[in-house]
Parts: sequence; C-alpha cells; structure tokens
Amino acid sequence: MTTTTSIYEKLKAKLDRVVPDFELRHKAEIAEEILRLKEERNAVILAHNYMEPALFYSVPDYVGDSLELSRKAAAAEQDVIVFCGVRFMAETAKILSPDKTVLLPAERAGCSLAASITAEDVRKLKAQFPGVPVVTYVNTYADVKAECDICCTSSNAAAVVESLGTDTVIFLPDEYLAKNTAKETGKHIIFPTRMPPEQFDASLDYQLVGWHGRCEVHEQFTVEDIENARRQFPDVLVLAHPECSPEVVEASDYSGSTTAMVQYVKQHKADKYLILTECAMGDNIAAENPDKEMLRMCSIRCPHMNEITLEDTRDALLHNRYVIDVPEDVRERAFRSVKRMIEINAKD
Ligand code: 13P
Ligand code: SF4
Repeated sequence: MTTTTSIYEKLKAKLDRVVPDFELRHKAEIAEEILRLKEERNAVILAHNYMEPALFYSVPDYVGDSLELSRKAAAAEQDVIVFCGVRFMAETAKILSPDKTVLLPAERAGCSLAASITAEDVRKLKAQFPGVPVVTYVNTYADVKAECDICCTSSNAAAVVESLGTDTVIFLPDEYLAKNTAKETGKHIIFPTRMPPEQFDASLDYQLVGWHGRCEVHEQFTVEDIENARRQFPDVLVLAHPECSPEVVEASDYSGSTTAMVQYVKQHKADKYLILTECAMGDNIAAENPDKEMLRMCSIRCPHMNEITLEDTRDALLHNRYVIDVPEDVRERAFRSVKRMIEINAKD
C-alpha cells in the first residue's frame, strides 16, 4: 500500500538536493490523497516534463513530451485522464480519446503559441496559397488543428514536413520552430506573415510559410546567455529546445524535444549542462542525474505550466474540474490531423 511515509521516502531519495524537507513532507501528504482519488475515479495521470519536481516524481502514471503524452492519451483505458500540462495538451488528449473525461487541473494554463493564431488565420492562408499543405504545431487549439492537414510536435517536425513530399509547406504558428525545421530539412524558407501572392517565389525548392508566433519562454534565451555560460564553464554542454531562435539553436550543442533533452543528459558523460527550457525540467533532470550539474535560467519561467500544482491536481479529481470539451465537428477534423501525425512518427 502507498502511504504518505512511503511517498515521502521516495521523494526524499530523489529530491533531497532539490526541494526542502518540510515541503517534501507536505507534498507527500497531498500526493497520497491524489493516488487514493485516482484509484477511486479510475483515472490516469499524464504529466509533462515541465511539472514541478514533487509532482513529477510522485503521482503521474506517465511523464513525457507532447508526442509521448498524446500517445498515452490515445491508448488510455481509464475513465478519466488528468492532464498535468497546458490546455492545448489536454485538448489533444480529448481529441484522441473523446469518450474519456479529460481534466486540466488549472483553468488558465494556456500557451503563448496557441494564443497566437486563430482558425480564421489558417483559413485566410489556405485561401492565399491554395493546395499548399498546412502543418500546425501541436501547441494550437482544436479549431486551428481542425483547419490543418497534419500536426507536428518538436520531436517530429522535420519528419512530418518531409512526409508531405511537396515543394511548399505552410508551417504554423511558431516562427522559430518553422525556421529551425526549414534548416534541419535543408529547405528554403519564406517568412512574411501575410505575404502578397505576387511575392511568393515558386522557384524555391521548398518553402515554409511561417506565422509570427513565438514561445514567450524560449524566445528570451540569447546567444549571449550561452557565451556567458561557456566563458565561466568551458566544458558545459548547451541544450536548447527548438522553440528557441535559430541563432540560439546554432550556438548550442544539441536541440531536441523535452524528452530528447532528458535522454541527451542521461547518455552523455559531461559534468555540466546548460538547459535552455523551462527551469523545472532542469530540476527534474538534476534529480535523475545526481553526479551531473544542471545550469538553468530560472528567472525565465513558463507561467502556464507553473499553474499546475499537486494541490490543483488533487482538486481536479475531487471536484471533477476543469473538464475539457471540444465540439464534435471540430474534434473530428482535428482528430484527422493529430492521428496522421501519430501514424507518421510510428514508422520512424
Ligand atoms: P515538447 O513537445 O518538446 O515537450 O514541448 C512542449 C512545449 O510546450 C515546449 O515548450
Ligand atoms: Fe507554451 Fe512556451 Fe509555455 Fe511551452 S513553454 S507551454 S510553448 S508558453
């Protein structure tokens, strides 16, 4: 049986260097309540890699990046999915598992990328570039996904773009992920937001028409941050999420999805790593790799991911909140784009 003491001991072993003892004792009590409620409600808890350490290491059935958690949501057998992440992730779970009750523990957990684009924006671009396939980052809301041909995540963007086999792709809404993907695939990129059709250069081998959306967290990391770290710690390995600018990605040693970064640290022998993504993930990696040092920039946080706490997760199960719903006509169309993405990656 899982007791508060056993949860506390497990957390203590993992997080002794990361979270103060009194906090661990308090969090263990809440985690015990959550595990009991999870059983009672036949729920599964999915948690993104950005969750705070005490949550990340106590209650989730699965942790991971957007793609991994989408797969878990699609395969869930329980009645309830509690999504410890942001709204677009919980919506994606609902799109894939419409018969389940999907709960998002904090109502206001949004995302600057998802907020940067509307379905109407996509319709206008499709009218401007008829026949050009539309890829949208999974960090969008269901009505935007419903307008596109296929979704992608940070871990499969290049594979998705390449799978289309066309000369031209509209890639929305993350400007930086679009540019990084264009670079990775070795293709040309055209970028203006509302480009007049006469400026569209059909002679280029490949074109990504990007929208000017950015992640409010990753756009803040700079090449100077990397140079400062390298000056102080010449052996540091720098990891940047592909939502960072192409200049930052270029100056880094590695760029990949959140889970890819976790794996990278695990597989490398260096002592020090600069983690250019949400700071809580640096804590989680540090806990897993006690012999390695994680440098993180904790003044830059994702306010949306930070909305989700253990307390909210308990209250979500207790009060059945906040229920995620997607209108069925939108869901059906969004499902096609998400499903197509999941199938492509499965072949990799
Ligand atoms: P991942 O799919 O790499 O986990 O990214 C999600 C995200 O929102 C990063 O900011
Ligand atoms: Fe959105 Fe950026 Fe937060 Fe990820 S880190 S959820 S992309 S705002």
